[in-house]
Amino acid sequence: MPTQTTQRAQWGSKIGFILAAAGSAIGLGNIWRFPYVTQENGGGIFVLFYLLAVVAIGLPVMLAEITLGRHTGKNPVGAFGAIDPKWKFVGALGVLTGTAILSYYGVVAGWTLGYVLKSAQGELSPEAFGAFVADPVAQVSYMVLFLAVTALVVALGVQKGIERMSRFLMPLLLLLLLGLIVRSLTLPTAAEGLRFYLWPNFEAVSAKTFLFAVGQAFFSLSLGMGAMMTYGGYLSKKENLVSSAVAVVGLDTLIAILAGFLIFPVIGHSLDKGGATLVFVTMIQQFNTMPGGQIVALFFFVLLALAALTSTVSLLEVATAYLTDEWKLSRKFSVAILFLFCSLLAVPSALSLGAVDWLSTLGGKGFLGWFDFLFGNISLTLGALLTCLFLAYRWGVKNAAVEIAEGCSWFEPLLPLWRVLLGVVVPLAILVLLGYMLITGAGLG
Ligand code: TRP
Repeated sequence: MPTQTTQRAQWGSKIGFILAAAGSAIGLGNIWRFPYVTQENGGGIFVLFYLLAVVAIGLPVMLAEITLGRHTGKNPVGAFGAIDPKWKFVGALGVLTGTAILSYYGVVAGWTLGYVLKSAQGELSPEAFGAFVADPVAQVSYMVLFLAVTALVVALGVQKGIERMSRFLMPLLLLLLLGLIVRSLTLPTAAEGLRFYLWPNFEAVSAKTFLFAVGQAFFSLSLGMGAMMTYGGYLSKKENLVSSAVAVVGLDTLIAILAGFLIFPVIGHSLDKGGATLVFVTMIQQFNTMPGGQIVALFFFVLLALAALTSTVSLLEVATAYLTDEWKLSRKFSVAILFLFCSLLAVPSALSLGAVDWLSTLGGKGFLGWFDFLFGNISLTLGALLTCLFLAYRWGVKNAAVEIAEGCSWFEPLLPLWRVLLGVVVPLAILVLLGYMLITGAGLG
């Protein structure tokens, strides 16, 4: 089959790809969601479950996506279509899912921007959160502003926009995180907080703990909607796909675990509830009482905003690659259309936290809650399932192995293991997870 490589954008280097892909993976899911999901699900035991899910389920799917991406050098629709046009719908599902996730993720990302500005002005108050998210003007403006910055980066292109931003922001993110951890570990609440985070609580462990770990792994690794496929499409044939996948997965996992070492020492044991209140209320209560709290708060929200930005950029890049490849539109024009579309699509989410009553209470979850459930949970997991089945039973692990062999000479002996994971283990885990989510109506992340 013809692989089009004519004039296609490429990463400047392997490290450029790794930082961009890690930037996609490292987001609000790591810094905000992972710590409290861990705490709610048995602490240290959940971390073990999570590591297992990441290695046995996340890593094989990551490799599958990157390999399919580089082989075809295309956006998800084009990538599936290049091998079998009947499977294009999986790519289309990915493009749709990414755009939908971008809309509500952009709302939450907008909050981080709002809080960067608030903390710079020294105006943080834990009570203000409810009024902030219920303020329609603030909600829509910060969301639009965040999506505009995202659009700007994507419009600049793969090397000049995404890669350059990642090379600069990812090291900065790590520095900020480490600096904040040093401060938080020296707080009087540190020991208690770490105990709370990591102490194995067997009572909180049940069959669903593993499902939570799998769901968290998919979301955190940006799998299931073609983001890694699209980024893999810009990799050169000489790069080692296996070591790249391992690096991205390793960095994402490292940052998630480190984030717990930042959050829990700050909040001690006073965690009532996860979700929005953890970051925007409980953390602020603590910042307001600690020496140097204002500057710590500023760095903390900058950290969240940067993590969110490298993720929204990857979400937007998927649909952009689709429009430029399949519809032959220019990059700038594609980004402009998508920016407008996503901003409009995000409005109901932005207004669903108190600004508009019916959107906030809709079906018990509110509009944003439903979007997260349908796209961030169900559709993402379904996409990952179809990608595994496609690779294992349609394209074939043997063909994928030929692609992997370019740049990696030692993967051969691991092929049978990869085949079993993609063809049996991951699909079974996903089916149970999907069944659980659809029956209970509860999302996992
Ligand atoms: N992984 C990001 C996070 O942890 C979110 C994200 C970015 C994402 N791109 C994605 C999730 C693509 C799924 C698919 O916050």
